Amino acid sequence: MNASFEKKILCIGAGYVGGPTMAMIARKCPNYKVTVVDINPQRIQRWKSDRLPIYEPGLKELVEATRGRNLFFSTDIEEGIREADIIFVSVNTPTKTYGLGAGMAADLQYWEKTARQILACARSPKIIVEKSTLPVKTALAMERILKSRESRIHFEVLSNPEFLAEGTAVRDLEKPDRVLIGSRLTPSGLKARQELVDIYRNWVPEENIITSDIWSSELSKLVSNAFLAQRISSINAISALCEKTEADIRNVAMAVGRDGRIGSRFLNASIGFGGSCFKKDILNLVYICRHYGLEEVAEYWESVVHINEYQKERFVRHMLTAMFNTLAGKKICILGFAFKANTGDTRESPAIHVCTRLLEERAELVISDPKALDNARLDLGHLEQERISFVQDPYEAARGVHAIAVMTEWDLYRRLDYQKIYDDMIKPAFIFDGRNVIDHEKLYDIGFNVYAIGKTPLTHFDESESVQDLQA
Ligand code: UDX
Ligand code: UDX
Repeated sequence: MNASFEKKILCIGAGYVGGPTMAMIARKCPNYKVTVVDINPQRIQRWKSDRLPIYEPGLKELVEATRGRNLFFSTDIEEGIREADIIFVSVNTPTKTYGLGAGMAADLQYWEKTARQILACARSPKIIVEKSTLPVKTALAMERILKSRESRIHFEVLSNPEFLAEGTAVRDLEKPDRVLIGSRLTPSGLKARQELVDIYRNWVPEENIITSDIWSSELSKLVSNAFLAQRISSINAISALCEKTEADIRNVAMAVGRDGRIGSRFLNASIGFGGSCFKKDILNLVYICRHYGLEEVAEYWESVVHINEYQKERFVRHMLTAMFNTLAGKKICILGFAFKANTGDTRESPAIHVCTRLLEERAELVISDPKALDNARLDLGHLEQERISFVQDPYEAARGVHAIAVMTEWDLYRRLDYQKIYDDMIKPAFIFDGRNVIDHEKLYDIGFNVYAIGKTPLTHFDESESVQDLQA
């Protein structure tokens, strides 16, 4: 049956990137056999089951339409390598936690291991496609490893960074703004590049497929993420100023975003950005700049991460001062734990920082999220469990609490019956909206004391006397 497939594609790494990307390729290229492998057998088992390992709108339908037809999941990495013509590598590249560059550089151990495994198993020429976000010049290291053995097998390394965002992965894959493919500019490099272009041409308009040299492609991915994160840190920095000046960040963002040169997207002030990529990729960019002696450039980008840490901590301090400078023994309902809406992913979620700090202040937490509670349990597993509970239903979670803190912009939270929630809370009732998703005036009218990002608080207290004054 395999003989009927035109080409065989393998993807190493069945994560948030590898899984959805391969499902889309399988869907759009029925002549290609697509196999996804991973070192984690539980993960592969879940991909084969009804309970996929990740939640992503539209993903289940996509996988069900292709699985067993031309999309396969397996743990046999060696066999996969042997039979593949094209190998996508999307293993994780976390921030290094040890040795030189700890806390900043990308940890490339999985990459190198994968390259060596490809070399050991391959019996025929292959195109290797870098999907993971990598430091510029990783392809060179990859090529050196692949050429290190006396073998006549030719490997061509391409860079094809993934720009999908979680929560919208299926849509982003179906209608990408652009597909970027970088290659060596040699005859074999250009030929391999064309093979990859031919795959995407099955559904992506030609003008949206950009080709370049390999180093520009690798660097573009890091820079794209750095630019997106920089916008959020810029608007978040201004949110602090708005709170001091009675300006409203939403009005400022709208006015600024109406300038076509700037554009309206990625200007939502928030409690800070999270997710597996932004922080890791910026720190990696900073590390590379330092490596080349570009200290000022490194500091410039590093400040994007600093503002993000500042924004998360600022939020916690607001909660503390607003609630009379003590949170000890107070019950706080956390609405949302995912790093953004429409995903169960909690990697680098600002909720982790906020919850950790609130526990340090001896608060009791009731955590609610429609998709991320399993991950939340793991993230907070090392903290005092007797002061944390996990409750799926938001009404139940908010019952009898002193305050609510919104951490994720789930649509669900816009539509809750806040009168009902207010009635069951301890008074004075506080709400801290870390995403500016709820109607603040309406909450205020119900009786809440409302604290949003980048706006003057709406409280029923006499604000001419600050809490600090009261204490004096
Ligand atoms: C990863 C990278 O973190 C990101 O930088 C890149 O842009 C895309 O790939 P993601 O898919 O979100 O992102 O990571 P993750 O969900 O952790 O998936 C990686 C998978 O690779 C895991 O399932 C892991 O088990 C697997 N893996 C890791 C291997 O199969 N082999 C390895 O040697 C290491
Ligand atoms: C990001 C990039 O968007 C994607 O192109 C890349 O391939 C991987 O990294 P992702 O991490 O899935 O994708 O999420 P994204 O939508 O970019 O959001 C990142 C964080 O920024 C989230 O915590 C989100 O809530 C926050 N954010 C986003 C804001 O705080 N304000 C905004 O205006 C936009």
